Amino acid sequence: MNNFTYYTPTRILFGKDTELQISELLKDLHCRKILLHYGGGSAKRSGLLSRIEAALQASGIEYVSLGGVKPNPRLSLVYEGIALCRKEHVDFILAIGGGSVIDSAKAIGYGVAGDGDVWDFYLKTRAPESCLPIGCILTIAAAGSEMSDSSVITNEDGWLKRGCHSSFCRPKFAVLNPELTYTLPQYQTESGCVDIIMHTMERYFNQAENMELTDGISENLMRTVIKCAKILKQDPTNYNARAEVMWAGSLSHNGLTGCGTDGGDWASHQLEHELGGMFDVAHGAGLAAVWGSWARYVYKENPLRFARFAVNVHQIEASRQDLSTLPAEELDALALAGIKAMEQFYRSIDMPVSIRELGVELTDEQIEELADKCSFGQTRTVGIIKKLNKADMMEIYKAARS
Ligand code: NZQ
Ligand code: ZN
Repeated sequence: MNNFTYYTPTRILFGKDTELQISELLKDLHCRKILLHYGGGSAKRSGLLSRIEAALQASGIEYVSLGGVKPNPRLSLVYEGIALCRKEHVDFILAIGGGSVIDSAKAIGYGVAGDGDVWDFYLKTRAPESCLPIGCILTIAAAGSEMSDSSVITNEDGWLKRGCHSSFCRPKFAVLNPELTYTLPQYQTESGCVDIIMHTMERYFNQAENMELTDGISENLMRTVIKCAKILKQDPTNYNARAEVMWAGSLSHNGLTGCGTDGGDWASHQLEHELGGMFDVAHGAGLAAVWGSWARYVYKENPLRFARFAVNVHQIEASRQDLSTLPAEELDALALAGIKAMEQFYRSIDMPVSIRELGVELTDEQIEELADKCSFGQTRTVGIIKKLNKADMMEIYKAARS
């Protein structure tokens, strides 16, 4: 097992009606003025926003508002938020929404607390040294931003989608009420489930040695979300399934399923982020569209890991319990069966397994552009199972095209 640091400073309030505790939470943190940050309309339509505003007014907590965060959140609104926070002397940001709203809040927090252009942090030409404190009320189980150290922003100038990682942005608290996710469209629910599973899969597919406990937690998390995603397709207001998925979303991306690994692969995420930046697709659906092509391209670098995934996550039978003693042909067959089973699961919840099914018809020129962006102009590789250069990325995008 590799050395690791596990740091999860986010206070979690989980369950029905937990958003009613918002005023006490904010008072505990001694905030003077808050930015209420939210998305394109769902928090207004559901009445959640007005309930939170009423609670703040009743407790005399001052706030200003900035809505309009789009999925794949944009840098221009981040700049607007930074200017507003400075003008209004905001000292806390309350994000009401999903990954896009929370990531936008984190970016605003970096911008207010630091000097210069916040985009530098996303280009990694400078590292953030602080961030305004953030809290969130989650309305979609997906990105895991409510506990993660990550923020992903899209710059409209060039449609580049880039992430920034630092523990400064980890939220002080996250309110997780599964009932707030009942109003999600089916596509967003299922896309969220894919993202949650993928955050553990990215860590699970690694080249590290034995980690029984972390692997066991990961496999259980993946099986649970697979089961609940299918339940939610039939029964979107099934509280227990919503609750399992919501808790899995936070645990899948707070670092738990990476403890003791080498950090994990993350190539599928990098490949998808370029699709999200260029074509504005839903993140989880984009991951489903590229994952199978990535997996088939790389599985021979670690067939044992893929075989374990097939057996322990998809319950595919092997001829021996100790997979490391299996002949190479059986390991390969198991690995491929596991990849196929994952794609069948994606299909069963109406998620795409190709970029065409995602609604994007890629040209050869666009494949070259995606790979060029993903390789940062051929200056980096992505992935741990296999280090992928620009040519590898092009092969995977081509395989995923249709
Ligand atoms: O804008 P509104 O009207 O709120 O609509 C949103 C949006 O259209 C809607 N929605 C959210 N809650 C709802 C609801 N509709 C009805 N009822 C509700 N209760 O859902 C749509 C998607 O919302 P979004 O926040 O974009 O979803 P998600 O949480 O999947 O976030 C995706 C973003 O997070 C990034 C992705 O790249 C993408 O930009 N990620 C962030 C990560 C992180 N910070 O740790 C990690 C992830 O890997 C990911 O990259
Ligand atoms: Zn993700």
